[in-house]
Amino acid sequence: MTQAHLTRQEALAALIWYREIGVTDIVSDAALDYRKAAFLPAAKFLNGQKDLQPAAVSTAAAEESLSATSAPPPQAPATKPSPMQPQSQPLGTAEASLDARRLAAEAQSLEELEAALKSFEGCALKRTATHTVFADGNPEAKIMLIGEAPGADEDRIGKPFVGVSGQLLDKMLAAIGLDRTTVYISNIINWRPPGNRSPSASEIAVCMPFIRRHIELVKPEILLFVGGVSAKALFETSQGITKLRGRWTDYQSEGLDKPVPAMAIFHPAYLLRSPGQKKLAWRDLLAVKKRIKAFE
Ligand code: URA
Repeated sequence: MTQAHLTRQEALAALIWYREIGVTDIVSDAALDYRKAAFLPAAKFLNGQKDLQPAAVSTAAAEESLSATSAPPPQAPATKPSPMQPQSQPLGTAEASLDARRLAAEAQSLEELEAALKSFEGCALKRTATHTVFADGNPEAKIMLIGEAPGADEDRIGKPFVGVSGQLLDKMLAAIGLDRTTVYISNIINWRPPGNRSPSASEIAVCMPFIRRHIELVKPEILLFVGGVSAKALFETSQGITKLRGRWTDYQSEGLDKPVPAMAIFHPAYLLRSPGQKKLAWRDLLAVKKRIKAFE
């Protein structure tokens, strides 16, 4: 059924239903009916017509027998580009990695780095995202926090950690006297993975030069890696967050004149799911507070 055939009430009901079944991303203006001729093998499976030979079924017959509604077939399904969808094809992984390294290395300021990210076409996540989520907070701050990737709220607003887990992160920071004027926040991935899935290993690998350069340009005194995905990527380890959290480890990089003490902390989204772990999170925050005191 196309939009033109829906009453307002039907459209609302459809939206509510989409939300309830977990649809979070629109990839096309028109619904695609996967039971139609173009998707005949799947259609046969759905309709139980397992031994039909494709040649014996005309497109029209297939449409007639397979269509559950009397609505006309959709018009040419114009894929709606996301506001950031580039015109070109995505780069291959090797080419994307080279491009990311070159663009990141060339950036001499945060403004240049943000522009470089916005011009980068090597991460497919950008195609479905609304915003490139670069950073929030004070770039002059001594403490830099690095999370995983933007969620739906961050993608909508264009800033990291502004959703529910961001609210808990703000409370965690406030508990040790910090806020967004005294910290700087970014993520290892700057585009929201569709449906809030975890970023894949290759998406992380491709984007790493940007966050490494980001750290070099900010030159923080303390780094906090928020959650296991960020900690594993930046510490270059396969150890899990329960092993990594609460321990100071030097973070080094060619573009930094000295190593930066870094600690992994539990991700607030994890603490929302596992409030029993807040005790350990509090212990880590106190260690951070103590470290801050040392350079005040
Ligand atoms: N989770 C993250 O890791 N980063 C965000 O910006 C939001 C949620």
